[in-house]
Order: sequence, then structure tokens, then C-alpha cells
Amino acid sequence: MKNIVLLTGAGVSAESGLATFRGPYGLWEGHRVEDVATPEAFRRDPGLVHAFYDARRARLETVKPNAAHAALARLDAEWPGELLLVTQNVDDLHERAGSRRLLHMHGELTKGWCLACGERFRWRGPMGEDACCPSCGEQGQVRPDIVWFGEMPYEMERIDDALQACDLFLSIGTSGAVYPAAGFVQTARHCGARTLEINLEPSLGSFMFDESRIGKAGELVPEWVDEVLQSAHSRPISR
Ligand code: APR
Repeated sequence: MKNIVLLTGAGVSAESGLATFRGPYGLWEGHRVEDVATPEAFRRDPGLVHAFYDARRARLETVKPNAAHAALARLDAEWPGELLLVTQNVDDLHERAGSRRLLHMHGELTKGWCLACGERFRWRGPMGEDACCPSCGEQGQVRPDIVWFGEMPYEMERIDDALQACDLFLSIGTSGAVYPAAGFVQTARHCGARTLEINLEPSLGSFMFDESRIGKAGELVPEWVDEVLQSAHSRPISR
């Protein structure tokens, strides 16, 4: 096996203390997804949407990467083949743990996007409705750089290429409820990859995986990374 694609979801950050999306009663931190995570919601009530993401961004400062993030960063550093970590998470815990070959398909809490000039930029602290674009200076046109429902996830072409070329696809901590990410397993499988999921419970698409390991990411991911790196290091070097 040379090429690995990893997909992570909210479950990988749960043990760091960040809430998953599909919590009790289908609410995300007490809100209906349609009230805070759609372009319509932002047009209707920008104050509420900004307050919601400002709170999520502030929460980030209080949490740390866990053992699953650390193990995936170790894999990134030591894996000799191709590797791409695709995360649906908008937190920055993978990069804080040290992952480099990483992309955020649903955007990032620590970035803003100016609707006036189109620039994207790092953002720390609250954004609010009156934020000023650091690039063009326009006020009140900055939104969180988050892919909301009804918007196109980032880097789909690059992800699709990686899925088609991968030998192993691993999905961690995602319910499999949201497309296109929920369909990645099918693409990888169709193109000949082995498929594995690690999740607290069988995901909606569990039947599509060759293997499911059920339990906490903070325990099962480090175990799996040890296995994969041991097998890579014990293989004879071919000339
Ligand atoms: N270890 C492993 N899995 C866990 C853990 C844990 N410690 N804790 C929770 N889980 C699992 C849950 O059982 C659930 O199946 O993680 C999954 C989280 O699922 P969701 O809350 O649906 O999150 P996710 O799949 O990332 O959501 C996808 O939906 O709302 C949108 O854009 C948002 O990126 C998000 C997307």
C-alpha cells in the first residue's frame, strides 16, 4: 500500500471537547443547522450567524489536539508514500497537532472571506457584522470562510484525484450523513482501495467499508497508525 486518503469528521475532535454536529435532537450547540449554517440564514440574520461562529472560534482557543490528531500527524510525518488528510472539520486541531498534507473541505473557523473583493485571510478573535476586510478595507462584507449547506465544498477535484489513486481509504469520526464526503468511500472502493472506518458507532454508510472498528478515535487511531507504520517499516526496500 502506498497511497492513503484519510477523511475525518467531528468525532475526531470530540475527545478534545468540541461538540459533534448531530448531537441530541439533531441540534448543533443548541441551534438548528438551517438557522446558522446556510447562506439564507446569513442573509436573514447575519448577527446570529456571526455570534454562532464567533463563539465556536473562541472555543477553539480553549481546546487542544487529542491522541487521534497526534497519531495522524505522526503518520503524515513518517508515511513514505502519498497521503492526503481531508477533514470536514472547521477547527484547526489537525494542523496544531502537526499534520501538513491536509485540506479543509468545509472551510476553516480561523479564516474570513470578503464578499466585496473575494479575498480569504486568517482571522483571530470575533468577526461580527462590522468586520473590516484587511485586503480591500470594505466594512461589513466579511463572512466566516465556512462552506454552508447548499455551497460547494473546497478542492473537490484534488480530492477526487486522490480518491481515485488511493490504495487505502480510512474514514474517522464521521456519521456519513453529509454528501459529498459520505460518498468518498464508494469512489475509493470502486477504484480498488481497501476501505476502513473508525467510529464510535457504525456510520450510515458502514456497510460500504471492508472493515469497521468501533470505539473512540483517541484510542483506535493511534493503534491503527502503529500497525500501518510497523508494516511499512518492516517491508523490504525494493530497488
Ligand atoms: N471517536 C470516534 N467517533 C466519534 C467520537 C469519538 N470519540 N465521538 C463521536 N463520534 C462519532 C459519532 O458517533 C458520529 O457518528 O462521530 C460522528 C460525528 O458525526 P456528525 O456529528 O454528523 O459530524 P460529521 O460527520 O463531521 O458532520 C459532517 O455535517 O453539519 C455538517 O459541515 C458539517 O462537517 C460537518 C458535516
